Amino acid sequence: MKKKFFKEIPCGAQVKKAQKKYLKQIAEIAAENFSGLKGPKDAVKWVSCNFSAFPRMQYFVAITQKGPRKEIVGYILWVEKGGFRKESVWELEQIAVKKAFQGNGIGGELIEKSFLEIKNYLKKRKSFLKLVEVTTGTDNQAQKLYRKTLGAKKECIIKNFFRSNEAIMIARFNRPPVKS
Ligand SMILES: CC(C)(COP(=O)(O)OP(=O)(O)OC[C@H]1O[C@@H](n2cnc3c(N)ncnc32)[C@H](O)[C@@H]1OP(=O)(O)O)[C@@H](O)C(=O)NCCC(=O)NCCS
Repeated sequence: MKKKFFKEIPCGAQVKKAQKKYLKQIAEIAAENFSGLKGPKDAVKWVSCNFSAFPRMQYFVAITQKGPRKEIVGYILWVEKGGFRKESVWELEQIAVKKAFQGNGIGGELIEKSFLEIKNYLKKRKSFLKLVEVTTGTDNQAQKLYRKTLGAKKECIIKNFFRSNEAIMIARFNRPPVKS
């Protein structure tokens, strides 16, 4: 993919935990990228619900800074499944980058940096990560990104899920060795 805005937006876009003040911008990016979020109003409601479910649901954002102007250019939503388990199971529920900024490495950076934060959060909780599930349309190039950043592998396909068939990808992790 042709790299756009590379000079203005080095791939070192900062990844941070989302704050309430960012929700409107997250919703705008969601509405721009997902047809299921019909418009900004619907999207704000959706994003606010998820944000309220912390720490079960955790948003992170990618922020770029040009002079004094900070801009949210992408977000990622992680969701814990089935309880606050010792052997913790998570879903990378949603990720999107502003259309004008896609293809600059921001999506990859969002996954890698936020994933480290999730693992640190689990370490503090004395849990460990057993598995990450991530699903996307079978025609979506994001599958490549999930393979590269998480080591996720396609395990099955569900027919006619959202607008098309959905690939279910899973990344599995080993239990850390017990210290003797
Ligand atoms: C998927 C998405 C978050 C990736 O973010 P990004 O900043 O464009 O991704 P990066 O630049 O870090 O990485 C691009 C890599 O992912 C792949 N990729 C993922 N989505 C892509 C897209 N829509 N167009 C082109 N390449 C895409 C490319 O193959 C590329 O791999 P490469 O670096 O080996 O060439 C972004 O394209 C997006 O917001 N898409 C729309 C929403 C969406 O489909 N989300 C995922 C489903 S939940």
